[in-house]
Amino acid sequence: MSSLSTLFTALLAAVSLASATPLVRRTAAGNPNLITQLRTSTQVNRTNALIEDEPDFSNFKFNFLEKLKPGPFGGGVVVANGETFPAVTGTGISGGVVFLPPCGMNGAHTHPRASEFAIASNATVKTGYVMENGAAKFIDLTLNPLEGVVFPQGSIHFQFNDNCDPTMLFVGLSSEDPGTSFAVKNVFALGNPAASAALGLPDKINDQNLEAFTDSLPTGIILGAKECAKRCKIDGAPMIKDSN
Ligand SMILES: *[C@@H]1O[C@H](CO)[C@@H](O)[C@H](O)[C@H]1NC(C)=O
Ligand SMILES: *[C@@H]1O[C@H](CO)[C@@H](O)[C@H](O)[C@H]1NC(C)=O
Repeated sequence: MSSLSTLFTALLAAVSLASATPLVRRTAAGNPNLITQLRTSTQVNRTNALIEDEPDFSNFKFNFLEKLKPGPFGGGVVVANGETFPAVTGTGISGGVVFLPPCGMNGAHTHPRASEFAIASNATVKTGYVMENGAAKFIDLTLNPLEGVVFPQGSIHFQFNDNCDPTMLFVGLSSEDPGTSFAVKNVFALGNPAASAALGLPDKINDQNLEAFTDSLPTGIILGAKECAKRCKIDGAPMIKDSN
């Protein structure tokens, strides 16, 4: 595990470096015409088009760290999909890295078009999912390093780093266009009457009206538990909103 943690230390140290000097390279990912061409092509033509676009083969690998834009709480989710990494076109899959800061949670969400295989790296991560109406139980799991879990398409799931050190999860997804839907945020996005009816028509939520409460809902990588923030001495840990 020590060479693994050396690697991660180097990777995370590079985060600030990467964000300080954004790499401005035009690859297939920034070329809408090429993306359209790839989608209507055969695999051999796709391969050739990607080689022609970048003869050094840089269209064929994806740097997750370079693409990470840490939010106010740190961490973030980077997905290599058909738009950000056109080399997946025609394969039916995509991949991701979930960067979890201390006490960070990738909050309750679904992928509308993909199942997900998530694998813990060098730390224990708490996770779980609800499949659908009628499922006997909430699947409640703790992943130890190099243990993995499958979240079937449509399941509502989360990943929580209940530790005081950062970690990452590696993720495979069964679609080039998995999509992500934050479960709570998008219930509230339905507005009235559907959102308040789903809550049993309360007069106020957290002393706020529905609109104000909706605006205050965090998305992206969020604080997973106040107890963790206290234990890890994360001063003034905010219930942050994600930049995207
Ligand atoms: C996992 O890797 C990160 C990045 O190097 C490191 O900060 C963290 O301490 C590691 N966690 C464990 C439990 O080794
Ligand atoms: C693939 O490339 C060949 C040679 O350039 C071309 O003739 C053919 O129309 C292309 N096929 C598709 C589906 O793009």
